[in-house]
Amino acid sequence: MIGRLNHVAIAVPDLASACALYRDTLGAAVSEPVDQPEHGVTTVFIELPNTKVELLGALGEGSPIAKFLERNADGGIHHICYEVEDILAARDRLKAAGARVLGTGEPRIGAHGKPVLFLHPKDLLGTLVELEQA
Ligand code: CO
Repeated sequence: MIGRLNHVAIAVPDLASACALYRDTLGAAVSEPVDQPEHGVTTVFIELPNTKVELLGALGEGSPIAKFLERNADGGIHHICYEVEDILAARDRLKAAGARVLGTGEPRIGAHGKPVLFLHPKDLLGTLVELEQA
């Protein structure tokens, strides 16, 4: 059911220095930061030959990554995103298997303008998983 690894997301305390690390030290193609006020984050995408890395900075009060950054002061892997062909079919299959879908349970439009869902890490081997309809 799951397809390509769309991205690995890393929450970072300082987006500018994280961008400099990936651009200047690791030599990657780093996008401009984009504020996503409806998600409480600023995102930067790093294009790699086979997948992407998403850098997440907290945006505004009550950002959904604020607690994560309190526990991980240096930053850390926040979630991984798998592509699926049919997000509603994928959701229903996971729910039937006992996985909890975060939020309302309905797909939202994610950072790429495509429908996404997040699944509870306790149901997926301690990993927050995002599904994106490819
Ligand atoms: Co993501």
